[in-house]
Amino acid sequence: MSRLQAEHLYKVFGRRPEDAVHRLEAGADRDELRAEGTTAAVIDASFTVEPGQIFVVMGLSGSGKSTLLRMLNGLLEPTAGRVLFDGDDITHLNPRKLREVRSKKISMVFQHFALFPHRSVLENAAYGLEVQGVAKEERLRRATEALELCGLKGWEKSWPDELSGGMQQRVGLARALATDADLLLMDESFSALDPLIRRDMQDQLLELQKTLKKTIVFITHDLNEAMRLGDQIAVMRDGRIVQTGTGEDILVRPANDYVRRFVEDVDRTRVLTAGSIMEKVAADTEFSDDEGSSCSAETPVAELFAALAEGTTEISVTDDDGDLIGVVGHEQLFSALADEARIDETADETHTDKAGAEAAPTAGVQAAVPAPRETVKAVKSDA
Ligand SMILES: Nc1ncnc2c1ncn2[C@@H]1O[C@H](COP(=O)(O)OP(=O)(O)OP(=O)(O)O)[C@@H](O)[C@H]1O
Ligand SMILES: [Mg+2]
Repeated sequence: MSRLQAEHLYKVFGRRPEDAVHRLEAGADRDELRAEGTTAAVIDASFTVEPGQIFVVMGLSGSGKSTLLRMLNGLLEPTAGRVLFDGDDITHLNPRKLREVRSKKISMVFQHFALFPHRSVLENAAYGLEVQGVAKEERLRRATEALELCGLKGWEKSWPDELSGGMQQRVGLARALATDADLLLMDESFSALDPLIRRDMQDQLLELQKTLKKTIVFITHDLNEAMRLGDQIAVMRDGRIVQTGTGEDILVRPANDYVRRFVEDVDRTRVLTAGSIMEKVAADTEFSDDEGSSCSAETPVAELFAALAEGTTEISVTDDDGDLIGVVGHEQLFSALADEARIDETADETHTDKAGAEAAPTAGVQAAVPAPRETVKAVKSDA
């Protein structure tokens, strides 16, 4: 079982880091330590990622995301706490065993994937296996398979500079997948791509994940990306994880004002699901799927608009066995949007430059066009 667990991880840079941990445990904050020239990059981070899950770490620049990730693969030694993966305590392995775990069980995918310009796409994809000492024939076979998984069949003999940025990033992903590592650590892996290609890559990752079921930690400061990819999302602020939950948890039940402001520009119709807004029906309600539309509890609200606009009065929500569990009609849809409008109204009290309250009910529909970068900027300039 390739479960990843972080237990009370701390990373402090600067003088007397252990002392700093004791002070943080006693309630000191990052600013106090910084005044003395010590940086508390990660403070008391704990979480579990189950096999097959994508765990997204989200936060503004400097919040400690990359430092956290580097502790997960043993590149950085935690000042306190430990990391367990697949039964191994990564933080207390001897250097030889750690190297082995790092090369066989863990793969990293970075924002700018440094491909070797004078090696073919295939050789680039096989690089991780070369490092592991896998024989040439086998590594080329596995790299070929990985390239195919990433939609690059036919490009094996090309040179990196013949590929677009998005394709190069796919080679990076293929390199990580070829090693067969159970744990994928992805640091802003799609952030350098333009929005359409980025969406493609997100889709591809979700598609691959259905069959590969890796344990993935994905870092991003793009909220919409976090919401699309994350089974669980951890929001970091100033070194601490301030909330962990599903996208819907974070959106509907933000732990504090910081998280609420952070998520206020997210397109809620893509995160809220039919199951969360439906009107429940009694367990034994008769249901025939012959007419009208049906969807699952996980279907995003955004995908219900078209059917309702075309005249369907009610969409049936069914469980995995096909049994009716609820319905969504105009009333449920509008109430969900009205809730959103109320949230937006409160937000407008602090952000007067936004659309007024009357415009708010349609905001969710318009927001269906993703605007990831603006979202981040808005939060950044406020912070
Ligand atoms: N090697 C280091 N020595 C000293 N301070 C460091 C070191 N690495 C990171 N830091 C500090 O730790 C804090 C967290 O940095 P980190 O790189 O983890 O942030 P991040 O969330 O990944 O940011 P970004 O989104 O910009 O990549 C920052 O204040 C940074 O200056
Ligand atoms: Mg970083």
